[in-house]
Amino acid sequence: MDKILILDFGSQVTQLIARRIRKKNIYCEIHPYNISKKQIENFSPKALILSGGPASTILKKPLKPDDSIYSLNIPILGICYGHQLLCKRFGGKVVNSKKREFGKSLIKIRNNSKIFQGIYKKNKEYQVWMSHGDKVSKLPSSFSIIASTTNAKFAVIANERNKIYGLQFHPEVIHTPNGDKILENFVKKISLCKANWRISDFIEKSLIKIKKQVETHGVICALSGGVDSSVTAALLHKAIGKQLKCIFVDTGLLRKNEGNEIEKIFKKKLGNNFKRVNAGNLFLNKLKNITDPEKKRKIIGKLFIDIFQKEAKKLNSIKYLAQGTLYPDVIESKSVRGAPSAKIKSHHNVGGLPKKLNFKLIEPLKELFKDEVRILGKKLNVPDIILKRHPFPGPGLAVRIPGSITLRKIKILQKADSIFIEELKKKKLYDKIWQAFAVLLPVRTIGVMGDQRSYEYSCALRAVTSIDGMTAEPYYFNSNDLAQISTRIVNEVNGINRVVYDYTSKPPGTIEWE
Ligand code: XMP
Repeated sequence: MDKILILDFGSQVTQLIARRIRKKNIYCEIHPYNISKKQIENFSPKALILSGGPASTILKKPLKPDDSIYSLNIPILGICYGHQLLCKRFGGKVVNSKKREFGKSLIKIRNNSKIFQGIYKKNKEYQVWMSHGDKVSKLPSSFSIIASTTNAKFAVIANERNKIYGLQFHPEVIHTPNGDKILENFVKKISLCKANWRISDFIEKSLIKIKKQVETHGVICALSGGVDSSVTAALLHKAIGKQLKCIFVDTGLLRKNEGNEIEKIFKKKLGNNFKRVNAGNLFLNKLKNITDPEKKRKIIGKLFIDIFQKEAKKLNSIKYLAQGTLYPDVIESKSVRGAPSAKIKSHHNVGGLPKKLNFKLIEPLKELFKDEVRILGKKLNVPDIILKRHPFPGPGLAVRIPGSITLRKIKILQKADSIFIEELKKKKLYDKIWQAFAVLLPVRTIGVMGDQRSYEYSCALRAVTSIDGMTAEPYYFNSNDLAQISTRIVNEVNGINRVVYDYTSKPPGTIEWE
């Protein structure tokens, strides 16, 4: 199998590179930028990609890969930080740019290159997505300029003979139209990789890995009924059958009626290997008067683990805890392979883990994105009712009630949220949206209802389109639909007298409100 090796310098979007390449059915792996020469040789890549990252090559001790990569005589693509690194390595210069570029930018193509073949034409301008503070100020002698922006003359450079390319912009994000094709040119036309990797290979590889790791021990799976944990359970069930016990914790922070629905579906499939633990009161007590979002996440993470440890004790020989952690959960807590990315927040199933755990973790989906998990789930015969559900975060409604959490607020939010979702399904909009939900704001304002003064909470509606949860755009509703939903919520939910709609993209916002 032809393989691409991505060396990770900690960019928030490194995994998107892998995802785009795997979509072309070409196998690739992400490893920390500083893996050893031997590890690189053992992996035997057909080409290398150096990712972006938050560090600067101008620092006294810049992050560098093992220098042996440059004598492998294989194609290399440097992106953002990787681009600057290549320039410095081959004798160019990088300086701090007075004008930083974040977001959409225009590049002008100055020379033809194989990397842009069939995509960009000479002397024309194209939109790309930039995110950099430093820029290349001197071109290495063996390279030529392929494209420039008004602010970065050496935005794209190439040494065609040695197949080394540097892009200041990010081809892996959707805001670079045709960025996908640039990566395709690199892996197929330049690196000559054959497209022979399939998601079924991932299943086969995972089954072998899980069986080897687990041996005859027991595994408990943290099942929430969402896509990720359900697919994790299906994969483990296929690998180890009855050695798997699924624990569903009803945190009391679920959507309206969700606990009962999940129990019904999974009891039918897993029988006695499924257990529901009702822990609503426990969660509510521990969250009382807590307003700090990180504290809430840590408390919830710890409670989950405490419950799993307690349940494991009741069962025989449980050595492992399986979680449906996906790559976006990990990347926002810490980098998947230890590279130095910035921490955004602690996802409950990653950042909330105590230092001392009674069991080892199995997270077979840790390097996949939601859309890849859905394909995997389909192959494993997970029903559509689960696969098509909008993502729901582990900390549940706790990340949709900014400020202190009370039972009354949870009930109010559950009602508003269920009206919103019911209307989306009725209007056939549910499947067009990546994720939709209501948020209960800690803001009370005056209203007039039935000639009476009201002083109630406000509710925000959030609906976004996204491919992987890493970036998102607000869903543009027809205003009649939004007005109808808003009217129903104010009319039917005691405790809410105002509804607003959130038009923020991610970034700069996040999807959840906390
Ligand atoms: P944000 O709010 O970070 O969310 O833009 C990105 C996606 O991740 C989900 N999310 C979580 N999922 N545990 C999870 O399992 C968590 O702690 C968590 N926090 C956010 C969120 O719903 C969205 O789909």
